[in-house]
Amino acid sequence: MTQVIQLDPQRPQPQTIERAASIIREGGLVAFPTETVYGLGAAAMNQSAVQRIFEAKRRPADNPLIVHVASREMLDRVASNISDKAERLIDQFWPGPLTLVLERKPEVAPSVSAGLLTVAVRMPASTIALELIRAARTPIAAPSANTSGRPSPTTAAHVFDDLGGRIDMILDGGATNIGIESTVLDMTSDPPAILRPGWVGRDMLKGVIGPVEQATSESELRHSPGTRHRHYSPRARVVLIEHGSPDLIQQVCREHLKDGAVGFIGHTPVTINNAAFYPIHLGPTAADYAHSIYAALRELDQRGPVAIIVEGIVARGEGVAVMDRLRRAASKVTANR
Ligand code: TXA
Ligand code: MG
Repeated sequence: MTQVIQLDPQRPQPQTIERAASIIREGGLVAFPTETVYGLGAAAMNQSAVQRIFEAKRRPADNPLIVHVASREMLDRVASNISDKAERLIDQFWPGPLTLVLERKPEVAPSVSAGLLTVAVRMPASTIALELIRAARTPIAAPSANTSGRPSPTTAAHVFDDLGGRIDMILDGGATNIGIESTVLDMTSDPPAILRPGWVGRDMLKGVIGPVEQATSESELRHSPGTRHRHYSPRARVVLIEHGSPDLIQQVCREHLKDGAVGFIGHTPVTINNAAFYPIHLGPTAADYAHSIYAALRELDQRGPVAIIVEGIVARGEGVAVMDRLRRAASKVTANR
């Protein structure tokens, strides 16, 4: 049985937080909202609890988890040798959507790091997450609360669709603010390398610590096993139009309509008079896309189209992270500009 409990995201009820915290302390699983996406939490120093996360999500064992902390003292319980650059990033961006890969302490449950000598840590910016971690009095390991390979959840209903019956509790704090996952930055390489782009962009990081690399090579990405697996994907075939004129978008949608129902997600208004055409129009900014893209993919997927056509945005600033997720979700990429 999975309990779903609604909470005021600004002033969550202490009794509810305490109930959720006691589940965590006893080795159970609680899903909770962060500012990015919902996480599926377990006590990070408890190996059997962490093991349950992998089972519930059907997550490959070689994909490590992010540990969430609520204080500097908690960070010191999971990571050692924190560099001056890491300190500066923490001062600037925590709590917030930046995950730092650091040297791990041996007390962290081994499955959290999936055999690596490092641990990924962040301090989330949502009140519910921070109060839950404080009340549990333990760092909380939490991947996104979706079934492995599906789009990340941005509402409690998304979590329930994937994990209902498989976890103990879902704290429902409404839709998450940002909508895509945190930036993952490897602080154990020199210069530090972005393993997963996120809301904190490369230029923002450079402004605080100087040179930052974008990891692209196989060897670098070996350090972030998660990036190898199929990701963020609905069941339908996703076709990404990276740069498309309105004409190209129309044409691609019409072509796929010959095979069956077609979903469309984009900022260009596309109208096709066909009951099997399901358009979802988003605002044009990276923030609009980040906030709604996973919900849109899930909504269309429930209608069972043969294909979902997605119009891309410019891969600059926060758009880098949005386009990273769309490219991973897509099985085909098209461009005409
Ligand atoms: O915004 C977020 O980051 C959300 C919320 C819940 O905090 N969490 C999240 O977790 O997206 P997950 O498990 O879906 O993604 C974690 C990413 C994966 O790509 C994983 O490979 C990488 O972080 N990662 C975790 N530990 C690592 C480590 N020690 N070294 C390198 N990469 C690591
Ligand atoms: Mg994930």
